[in-house]
Amino acid sequence: MDIMYFKRYRMEINLTDRDLTPGRAEEGYRFVPWSPAQLDAFAEAKYLSFRGEMDVNVFPCLGDFDGCQRLMREIARKPGFIAATTWLLTYSQPGQRLECCGTVQGIRDAAGLGAIQNLGIAPEHRNSGLGTILLFHALRGFCRAGLKRAYLEVTAQNDAAIRLYRRLGFVTVKTVYKAVETVYS
Ligand SMILES: CC(C)(COP(=O)(O)OP(=O)(O)OC[C@H]1O[C@@H](n2cnc3c(N)ncnc32)[C@H](O)[C@@H]1OP(=O)(O)O)[C@@H](O)C(=O)NCCC(=O)NCCS
Repeated sequence: MDIMYFKRYRMEINLTDRDLTPGRAEEGYRFVPWSPAQLDAFAEAKYLSFRGEMDVNVFPCLGDFDGCQRLMREIARKPGFIAATTWLLTYSQPGQRLECCGTVQGIRDAAGLGAIQNLGIAPEHRNSGLGTILLFHALRGFCRAGLKRAYLEVTAQNDAAIRLYRRLGFVTVKTVYKAVETVYS
């Protein structure tokens, strides 16, 4: 057993006096609010968004469907879970199977701040503004719940995500090191 440390940034945003109107997605995309009956769809979107990504090294459960299903169940059971911050992105084209292609969740932490969990968009749907829109939906959910500030943690090498967060107004407030146990066979 070995321990690896991953450098991550805590980034925060002030939610007051901010225009959080989400842009419009292209035709075929739908933003679906949380409902417990959709848990498996949320888990599938999470799995398809994170599989093979660097965060699987930090949170191995993101790398398989069962792990994502477990994680969704845990998040939804947390006392601070806020349904209004928790969204699924789907894509459908006539005659084709509905795709679950993005998701985000949010909780209120013990200090009363909003904590964004696992924003993800499946690779073939990236770079069209969908991650930005999904994050706006989550931030609006925090506002509706009366929260004034929100934060997230991001792996220091995750340039695409950090650019997105900075563009929306998140600022880095702290560097943290996440310890992860690794087993060598
Ligand atoms: C981070 C992540 C959620 C971003 O999702 P996304 O849908 O690609 O985000 P956006 O499309 O809003 O923004 C990405 C880029 O597309 C650009 N873009 C936005 N709309 C666009 C459009 N209509 N046409 C072309 N480009 C566009 C943005 O300007 C941005 O460019 P930049 O990277 O040069 O700054 C996605 O890369 C992802 O899921 N990564 C893996 C999981 C992960 O690491 N999540 C973060 C955990 S903290």
